[in-house]
Amino acid sequence: MSTSAAEVMACSRVIPVVVLDDAEAAVPLARALLAGSVPVMEITLRTPTALESIARVAEQVPDMVVGAGTITRPEQAAMAVAAGARFLVSPGSPEPLVTAMLAERVPVLPGVATATEALALLRHGITEMKFFPAGPAGGPRYLKALAGPLPEISFCPTGGVDASNSGDYLALPNVPCVGGSWLTPSDLVRAGRWDDISRLCLGAWPDEPQ
Ligand code: 3PG
Repeated sequence: MSTSAAEVMACSRVIPVVVLDDAEAAVPLARALLAGSVPVMEITLRTPTALESIARVAEQVPDMVVGAGTITRPEQAAMAVAAGARFLVSPGSPEPLVTAMLAERVPVLPGVATATEALALLRHGITEMKFFPAGPAGGPRYLKALAGPLPEISFCPTGGVDASNSGDYLALPNVPCVGGSWLTPSDLVRAGRWDDISRLCLGAWPDEPQ
């Protein structure tokens, strides 16, 4: 299936940022997110089980749009897509990393925190970006200020976003979705409390009550 980064961002108002210590949890977690009307997840390459987790979700939960996050080294882009990742997310956007991500021909959300970094990505034709770390970098006021000079860019703010402030970001015209780990807390994942995770998803954002 061929999708764009804009389509990935349109999947859900929240892209869960997932850290998995146990690949066994990947499939039930993906199903719990789907049950909570969240059909997209970013599995971060921060744990040794991440690629295996991506592969399991890609094979066993085809309705889930599974991506790989925390891409920090160029070679990880190909490894993630080979495992089954349907989109790639990075916390920053150094040139070799962006080139490697684009070479995979899947949607990409490279990270930026400044107008200068965003302009560098625009030169690649990239108009969808992660804004990271969203809270410390300036929060909704900062993103609102970027909308004036850079109206063609859509941001997925991540880092310090949660149920209490997601609405402030989602109210902005340049923020179609946010990212965050609050929908998949490690204690609930470790305990296999999948129904609780589905419930968290269903109450994930204040402006669209379920
Ligand atoms: C990320 O990788 O995008 C962030 O670490 C997630 O940030 P959060 O834990 O504050 O949601």
